Amino acid sequence: MAKILDGKAVSAHVREQVKAEVEALAKQGVPVGLAVIIVGDDPASRTYVNNKKKACAAAGIRSEEYALPAETTQEELLALVETLNKKPAVNGILCQLPLPAHLDEKAVIAAIAPEKDVDAFHAVNVGHIMIGDYAFLPCTPAGIMEMLRYYDIDIAGKNCVVIGRSNIVGKPMAMLLLQQNGTVTICHSKTRDLAAHTRNADILVAAVGIPHFVTADMVKAGAVVIDVGMDRDENGKLCGDVDFAGVEPKASYITPVPGGVGPMTIATLLKNTVTAAKQQNGLL
Ligand code: GUN
Repeated sequence: MAKILDGKAVSAHVREQVKAEVEALAKQGVPVGLAVIIVGDDPASRTYVNNKKKACAAAGIRSEEYALPAETTQEELLALVETLNKKPAVNGILCQLPLPAHLDEKAVIAAIAPEKDVDAFHAVNVGHIMIGDYAFLPCTPAGIMEMLRYYDIDIAGKNCVVIGRSNIVGKPMAMLLLQQNGTVTICHSKTRDLAAHTRNADILVAAVGIPHFVTADMVKAGAVVIDVGMDRDENGKLCGDVDFAGVEPKASYITPVPGGVGPMTIATLLKNTVTAAKQQNGLL
């Protein structure tokens, strides 16, 4: 039986710390503000944005939402980013991805001022992460690291296998595990004999986006299993990339979906927004 990595509980702990910091900053005359941009009406994005705004409010961070119609042009979106870059009351800018297909995500990320890039998606911040010298950490991977730290799970020397190579999760996750001296393998859709890799993992991170992709036969006994998936099963119910019922008895630790990685992503976003406010006010 695995121990559950309770993202809700750990994130509540982090959010309390953030709240105390936001209060202390307010006393110094430094309010903390986040701008959230959402384009179109993707229901999953709407849910994520609502959760982020709610978490901001609970932590005392002022958030302003820019909900743009799906037909928004690249020029209009870039003009908004430019305005927010210059707005002193906005410490962090988050543009919820994915954007509608006609918009150029890379150009939008590149337009966000690196010092306000609380997602850590800008090439400058990605570069900082590569060399281990950063202000902002990417929200989902950093949230996972925080959770591993909270449960005293050692990474040094461990075989860490990340399934998925996205810029949002897979690649930065691998970098953070490497920084903590893990021996890291990144697997993806072209990997041959994926199960041979995953069965070797002491720490397995699944970020594939396919419901129940990781089954018990792919997991080593005693592994730590982290599920980044936010998928829908055949009945439309929220589930992860890991077949929880099958894998849980074999793992030493496992994250549930929901209540695992998701809440940690939001906690890191709040931390990054506070960091941005401090940096912009010469407090770091
Ligand atoms: N879409 C899925 N995850 C994320 C995230 O962490 N940040 C943003 N901006 N968009 C996302």
